[in-house]
Amino acid sequence: MTLNIKNLLGIAVLFSFSVISAQVRTSYTFEKGWKFTREDNADFIQPDYNDVKWQSVVVPHDWAIYGPFGIDNDKQLTAIAQDGQKEAMEHAGRTGGLPFVGVGWYRLNFDAPSFAKGKKATLIFDGAMSHARVYVNGQEAGYWPYGYNTFYLDVTPYLKEGMMNTLAVRLENETESSRWYPGAGLYRNVHLVVTEDAHIPTWGTQLTTPVVKDDYAKVNIKTTLVVPSGKQFDAYRIVTELKDKNGKVVTTNEKQGTRFDDNVFSQELVVTHPALWSPETPVLYQAVSKVYEGNTLKDEYVTSFGIRTIEVIPNKGFFLNGKRTPFKGVCNHHDLGPLGGAVNDAAIRHQIRILKDMGCNAIRTSHNMPAPELIRACDEMGIMVMAESFDEWKAMKVRNGYRHVFDEWAVKDLTNLIRHYRNNPSVVMWCIGNEVPEQWDGNKGPKMSYFLQEICHREDLTRPVTQGMDAPDAVVNNNMVAVMDVAGFNYRPHKYQENYKKLPQQIVLGSETASTVSSRGVYKFPVTRQWMKKYDDHQSSSYDVESCSWSNLPEDDFIQHEDLPYCIGEFVWTGFDYLGEPTPYYTDWPSHSSLFGIIDLAGLPKDRYYLYRSHWNKEEETLHILPHWNWAGREGEITPVFVYTNYPSAELFINGKSQGKRTKDLSVTINNSADSVSIMNLKRQSRYRLMWMDTKYEPGTVKVVAYDANGKAVAEKELHTAGTPDHIELVADRDVIKADGKDLSFVTVRVVDKDGNLCPDASHEISFKVKGAGTYRAGANGNAASLESFQRPRMKVFSGMMTAIVSSTEQSGKITLEATGKGLKKGVLIIESR
Ligand code: GAL
Repeated sequence: MTLNIKNLLGIAVLFSFSVISAQVRTSYTFEKGWKFTREDNADFIQPDYNDVKWQSVVVPHDWAIYGPFGIDNDKQLTAIAQDGQKEAMEHAGRTGGLPFVGVGWYRLNFDAPSFAKGKKATLIFDGAMSHARVYVNGQEAGYWPYGYNTFYLDVTPYLKEGMMNTLAVRLENETESSRWYPGAGLYRNVHLVVTEDAHIPTWGTQLTTPVVKDDYAKVNIKTTLVVPSGKQFDAYRIVTELKDKNGKVVTTNEKQGTRFDDNVFSQELVVTHPALWSPETPVLYQAVSKVYEGNTLKDEYVTSFGIRTIEVIPNKGFFLNGKRTPFKGVCNHHDLGPLGGAVNDAAIRHQIRILKDMGCNAIRTSHNMPAPELIRACDEMGIMVMAESFDEWKAMKVRNGYRHVFDEWAVKDLTNLIRHYRNNPSVVMWCIGNEVPEQWDGNKGPKMSYFLQEICHREDLTRPVTQGMDAPDAVVNNNMVAVMDVAGFNYRPHKYQENYKKLPQQIVLGSETASTVSSRGVYKFPVTRQWMKKYDDHQSSSYDVESCSWSNLPEDDFIQHEDLPYCIGEFVWTGFDYLGEPTPYYTDWPSHSSLFGIIDLAGLPKDRYYLYRSHWNKEEETLHILPHWNWAGREGEITPVFVYTNYPSAELFINGKSQGKRTKDLSVTINNSADSVSIMNLKRQSRYRLMWMDTKYEPGTVKVVAYDANGKAVAEKELHTAGTPDHIELVADRDVIKADGKDLSFVTVRVVDKDGNLCPDASHEISFKVKGAGTYRAGANGNAASLESFQRPRMKVFSGMMTAIVSSTEQSGKITLEATGKGLKKGVLIIESR
């Protein structure tokens, strides 16, 4: 029985007999009540400093995403060596053109009712960008430079019992410290954990499943206990219960500590008929560990885990639960488009739903540590993760990069990453680096790789380790790749076969692939394969024929991973567009976000999405026609039509006239399509996409009829020339959301004609009003050269579309989103918040 007398005494006191979990471990997440400034003053650490004039903010908070965009925000005068640049150029949008450089301070007054003398208090920062200096009640509690990592500090000596405490955090971002938009500030959550003196420390459990069979699995759990001075480990006892996904206890184990245990309880439990974790069946278990001193409960710690096996078998591939499972993966940066770096669970889950529908089964957290919300969502929703650490070691990629802290911090950073996520079933591989210049240094590269990989092995022997290398010849010749558990190659798929011959692992991972560039709804003529092609409008063609000088088209990777048995799959650069890196428009302000995404910055799929879906998610029907069919002025001109489909063939009709049937050309092989003529002629593409290169434009209807392998017509789709813009269509991804002030509904906004056809040229400015139990959170249109504010409830549609993001408040009720635009009938959408 628990009796809460908070209301009687005004302070939280819990009396209890058996339900004591809340008493032995309390976790607070500090979201509200923060004050923020961009000024810098040493006095800000003082508890009595008067911060009332500072801005009130809610954490997670990204101070830079509010803009304004500016050409001088982190303008980098540099030559990007890894992109082959020889002379310095002015890269204005390289890191997104947003004001993240400089200092920011956060302050919070908080009470921690469960803290008392003899207890322990730990502050956990899921990530703070960057160079965090943390002060509690005026005293420095710690420093952590790397903005992406989770770190924790023992703040027991600084906390006051029964009183208000003051937390002050100073953050500083340097110019030229990143190759993409890093975000700024307390952009991930901050927690305070209060425990007893004897307690399980942060990430103090390590759980493995050494034996997994159909009828049973062995679960090994090692639990560290911090034993207060004057006490012995053998005074403590642990009871661990394993619970299935319904919360039912499936097995229990109890163990008394002995003085030979090095303060670690090691328990082995057996789960009969285990339900295995996989992307299709993301089943989770929980280990609930209770530590007692005599009969007094000292700590209770919950570890979420999954039961699964992973194995990399030479020449055969990556195996999950004994089944060959190629990575159909994407690389993603951490930013959430218009929400910036500020972590949001709903936004992450929205991204994962879109990716899963495409058939994606894996994410590489390029090029740094992910937010815990992402890993939890991947555990729960079924996405494998390659968890990455660094973009830079000791050799320079950017002037103020990680190299300055590498010597002191690399081991600590890598250790935290692994301890944090080593119990998460979604994480299947560690990644120690990305395209580090040490690749070319036969003296340093292999040794540093070995060293960092050994840190991973020290912390976790169950997962293979890789790194993304883009200098295949150098790393094959200097042994750097031979050191790695898994050979990870970035780009250059044409080198896979040659390099494989020298690989001791006999395995090739496409750790980063494609870097195809395109802009949603933008098509360029004539349709020819292009590299680093630039246009006056700062966009790239959505015919999916353009890439960088070092990169290629999706099919150039598909064919390798399909035909070479030792290829274990790929991580496409990138799943979602991200802020920064507007390649090939390096110096062409206002370009400031990427064109690499399969999905744009607004979360709207580009045509390429359907190409990947047709190949990765064959169980579901994909039948997608491109381009749009509004080409006034192109009448009679050659306007090729492409169809992305999972079916082997299709027939195309323009205004009822057959344009012929196309069939995927399965006679195309890696080697008969590698010459320059085949490359220019899109020969490889003809194995995966259906292309009518000579069709001529006439307004009307494009229809495609798809045939299955037996030649039977099984599906059809039509695309119409749209008439004049008539009204605004609003479609929510979720029309019932949680009334927690954090949940989001992503509303697709389309300008359509009277029959509901998308008007692909529309660029109307749309204004939004939100009434009721919600607020307008942000909007994005996917135009990488647009400098419109993300937060202002007014934005131009790009290629007829954009996304408006509506947030719940803590009040439940109806949310009404109203969208208006000149000359358009308004759109109204009701969302329910519960
Ligand atoms: C890779 C790099 C990525 C990104 C990409 C663009 O070389 O690892 O971070 O820059 O190129 O194509």
